[in-house]
Amino acid sequence: MTPGWPVVLSHGGVVVRPLRLRDARRWSEVRTRNRRWLQPWEGASPSAQPATWESRHSPAVFTALLSQQRREARAGRGMAFAIEVEERLVGQVTVSGLVRGAFESATLGYWVDRDVAGRGVVPTAVALVVDHLLGPVGLHRVQVDVRPDNAPSLRVVEKLGLRPEGRHERYLFIDGAWRDHLTFAVVAEDVPQGLLHRYLRSREDTPPHLHQE
Ligand SMILES: CC(C)(COP(=O)(O)OP(=O)(O)OC[C@H]1O[C@@H](n2cnc3c(N)ncnc32)[C@H](O)[C@@H]1OP(=O)(O)O)[C@@H](O)C(=O)NCCC(=O)NCCS
Repeated sequence: MTPGWPVVLSHGGVVVRPLRLRDARRWSEVRTRNRRWLQPWEGASPSAQPATWESRHSPAVFTALLSQQRREARAGRGMAFAIEVEERLVGQVTVSGLVRGAFESATLGYWVDRDVAGRGVVPTAVALVVDHLLGPVGLHRVQVDVRPDNAPSLRVVEKLGLRPEGRHERYLFIDGAWRDHLTFAVVAEDVPQGLLHRYLRSREDTPPHLHQE
């Protein structure tokens, strides 16, 4: 099992906790309702059988995915967090490609229900998870890959001050094709007091009328 897993993290009404079996119906409902919002940004194996969005988001599929993600967590390769606001699952932060040794790095993916978009839920959730990874889990680096045309996600990494590391051409298979991605990263030395602390401080420095909440 990965050190630091399972864990529950929270700040300002945003709770990040392990996905669990009883999330199946809510996850299926949110993901199905948000097809147009999520599909352009979702990776999938190019060899996966063609299937409708609905059939890929049934409660039964969630149960299978959860088993797979629990195996990954036991093997120390990843973690699947639910994001909760007001005690409802509204999104996910997924840690994958967790590599130890000389690299000590992992990649983060995230999404949120369109109904709660624009309230800073994901930046807070990502900051909580990054601090957990760079702290108790003991990683040195966390990476986020974003499609150049995903403006909301580029805002997330910008707000968090993640460093741009460059462009990977035809990097991930998304929505039926290999898509270029911009890579952003943070290393432990960048955030001696933590990413959440730095993010909150940067918001204090922003004139209040520019806050979106
Ligand atoms: C990217 C995403 C996770 C951001 O989450 P969030 O909690 O809304 O993040 P924020 O509240 O910081 O908003 C980020 C930006 O999204 C944009 N935004 C806000 N509400 C929006 C809405 N309803 N529709 C479209 N864009 C919106 C704004 O530009 C905002 O920046 P601002 O705060 O400077 O105005 C979310 O848009 C999402 O789930 N998108 C679909 C899946 C996805 O793209 N995942 C990431 C793949 S790399």
